[in-house]
Amino acid sequence: MCGIVGYVGKERCVEVLMEGLRNLEYRGYDSAGLALAMPERGIETTKEVGPLDNLAGAIGEKYDDFFKVRVGVGHTRWATHGRPSEANAHPHTGGGAPAGGPEVAVVHNGIIENHAELREELRERGFEFRSETDTEVIAHLLAERVAAGEPLREALVGTLKRLQGSFAVAVMSAEEPGTIVAARHQSPLVVGLGEGENFLASAVQALLGNTRRFLFVENGEIAVLTDSSVEIQTLYGQPVERETFEVDWSAEELGLNGYEDFMLKEIHEQPAALQATLAGRLDTDGVVDLSELDFDFSGIERIVVVACGTAYHAGLLGKYAIERLARLPVEVAVASEYRYADPIGDESTLVVAISQSGETTDTLAAVEASRGFGARVLAVTNTQGSLLTREAEAVLLTKAGPEVGVAATKTFLTQVAALYLLALELAGRRGGLSGEQLSDVGCGLRRSPEKVEEALGLLEGRVGEAVGVFAGARCALFLGRGHLFPVALEGALKLKEISYLPAEGYPAGEMKHGPIALVDEQCPVVAVLGEGTLREKTLSNVEETVARGARVIAIAREDDAAAARVAQVTLPVPEMPEILSPLVSTVPLQLLAYHVAKARGLNVDKPRNLAKSVTVE
Ligand code: M6R
Repeated sequence: MCGIVGYVGKERCVEVLMEGLRNLEYRGYDSAGLALAMPERGIETTKEVGPLDNLAGAIGEKYDDFFKVRVGVGHTRWATHGRPSEANAHPHTGGGAPAGGPEVAVVHNGIIENHAELREELRERGFEFRSETDTEVIAHLLAERVAAGEPLREALVGTLKRLQGSFAVAVMSAEEPGTIVAARHQSPLVVGLGEGENFLASAVQALLGNTRRFLFVENGEIAVLTDSSVEIQTLYGQPVERETFEVDWSAEELGLNGYEDFMLKEIHEQPAALQATLAGRLDTDGVVDLSELDFDFSGIERIVVVACGTAYHAGLLGKYAIERLARLPVEVAVASEYRYADPIGDESTLVVAISQSGETTDTLAAVEASRGFGARVLAVTNTQGSLLTREAEAVLLTKAGPEVGVAATKTFLTQVAALYLLALELAGRRGGLSGEQLSDVGCGLRRSPEKVEEALGLLEGRVGEAVGVFAGARCALFLGRGHLFPVALEGALKLKEISYLPAEGYPAGEMKHGPIALVDEQCPVVAVLGEGTLREKTLSNVEETVARGARVIAIAREDDAAAARVAQVTLPVPEMPEILSPLVSTVPLQLLAYHVAKARGLNVDKPRNLAKSVTVE
């Protein structure tokens, strides 16, 4: 949550910062701001509430010489302390008039937990606060040290030692106009390398238009950037040698490529994302090969999956597949609960941490909690070099490419595919199922990209009718059973996060224990029927809702006559082996959420109150 970006180098600072913020807007879009080292005028800040276009407009109006700027920092905010307002927008400044001393500017991602005490202490020393944020204390503490003559790096080290909480910060001072200093503890920070210019940001996506060469800054490290050098040290002054990391994402992948929204583009990218995730890991006979992980799977007796949101739903599908195929018990835990649950386990426990971003604070903390009992940790993530990849023994990378829409779509399907690969790998090692049975599932999985493509084709032009069922809806109930229950959960989450309609995902058989009370003409039922053993059972439950006035959208095979009988609309899915059918059944639910939200005139890529990466607790 919140994105920071910094640049030092050529006379294109504003362009780089604005592009960086544009690519980080998924991390928060309550307000945005820049601090620029203006030639001969010192540090000047510009901040605006709302989307980045407001800031771009303000910069254009304020300056006719912004193209001369060579150094600056920027921020896009997801409000934690203090409502979205210009005063609370970053960068925050300290020093300068009327406080005295050289002016400093700070951008921050994270939370300063002891900000109230520090604020009190600074007030007693005569500092005046202009915002309600936790970050402003950093600006004043830093300014005080710079005014006392400390160089910017030492001043930041001294300031950071006073802070409790999490941070990635980037600071600049009027005293050292060619330098940016940045540091991190718990929140992500990368340095991008250029020729005669250097960059920093919360995530590599911010800088892909400028560089693919990065240095990762680790917890407790501080980086000093000038146009010609990057020095990393620990907070205790020890120099750090860091290898350059080259990412294989490209700036082109961050474009809309003719689509109206990123979410729609990313839904349509799912066949390619699955293809890339499976490539090299599954041969033509459906035999899985995860030797790339170089991971010791021996002696694993139990699996715990930790994840949040959509990744948690992928984990539930992973449980289903691993238990069915490998007969290993799997617990799936919401990471924010697990981290405080004093979890039980031992060295025979494999913890699978799933996170698209690889930087969700609760998921990282859950991994740390599992270290207490000696767990082995496997990360499933889409983000190379993310914090999670550095906390795990092995990384099973989903290769969905960058996902910009706040609602996770292609990363969900690739997480599920990665977990199916893991289930097959474990099943192969444990020998419960025959090679032929496993190869059938493996071959089905290999065909999943084309099946998802087929689903997209079948659904073309079909979702509008289902959107009609939502006219006047005040809530929705998503029902499924077995492996289709997590699909129902995911469908409900997609709908609520982008259309703001209350939606419940429920096991169809549990509905009579409460949620059926919701059912009437204004509460559509979305029934994920699929095929297989539990279809009949789900159908009976759906009939019960129809008897109470529900209008039903069925996710089923096109030729499913029983589905057609109970439902106003069927959203068709192609045939797929039962265990793999979540891969196709999810697609109509993503499109349904998308089109319902569009019909309500909402911004699907940036739903209110949300940020894509949840980097605070
Ligand atoms: O980056 P992560 O996968 O760890 O993110 C977890 C959740 O925040 C995320 O899946 C969230 O629920 C999505 N916005 C759902 O679409």
